[in-house]
Amino acid sequence: MAPVLAFDVYGTLIDTHGVVAELETRLGAAGKADLAVEFSRRWRDKQLEYSFRRGLMGAYVPFSQCTEEALAFTDRALQTGLSESDRAHLMGVYGELPAFPEAAESLARLARAGVRCTAFSNGTREAVAALLDRAGLGEHLEAVVSVDEVKRFKPDPAVYAHLRHRLDVAPGDTWLISSNPFDVIGARHAGLHAVWVRRSPEAPFDPWGIEPDMTVPDLDALAERLS
Ligand code: 2OP
Repeated sequence: MAPVLAFDVYGTLIDTHGVVAELETRLGAAGKADLAVEFSRRWRDKQLEYSFRRGLMGAYVPFSQCTEEALAFTDRALQTGLSESDRAHLMGVYGELPAFPEAAESLARLARAGVRCTAFSNGTREAVAALLDRAGLGEHLEAVVSVDEVKRFKPDPAVYAHLRHRLDVAPGDTWLISSNPFDVIGARHAGLHAVWVRRSPEAPFDPWGIEPDMTVPDLDALAERLS
């Protein structure tokens, strides 16, 4: 059976920090534009923390709610005074985040080589499909698999089992591609193969003794290895 690549979306195909320019504008009104990069990083970290906590509590909500509540928390924590309309606008920008520059060509190259590629995300299928289409990636992916279909978040083993079920492939033929170490470890723990996209040479990996099968600096390098 041919292997299938399941690409994580936020942080792997799509650049979550693509919101920094808009943050600079919105925070700039209060003279706090210099906080934009830190705001973006803390927003993302809190979004993931909320998904982990909700998973543990058995209190699933659509991932966009984690994003929205993390935005409000970050505004409180950094005392940036965003208005309701600022937050609504930033959520709109989050729904239109850009792809990483090499993503489209890398996916196209893999598709030309006959490699099956799909998206696999915490986001709902509707939100992720719209995001990927807008970013020019949807046409290269055969499906969007969402954790929303099982109402659990990564790295619950149930979501990786669901991915295999949806793709109808053996664990040994399912490859998660992710820049998020917690996602790579979750997939390996669930018996899948996993590639870590180490977008920054300084990015650390968790010292759990569970390693990726392969590490690449970006998707271009992955396409080069597999096509
Ligand atoms: C995703 O599932 C974890 O944000 C990451 O797209």
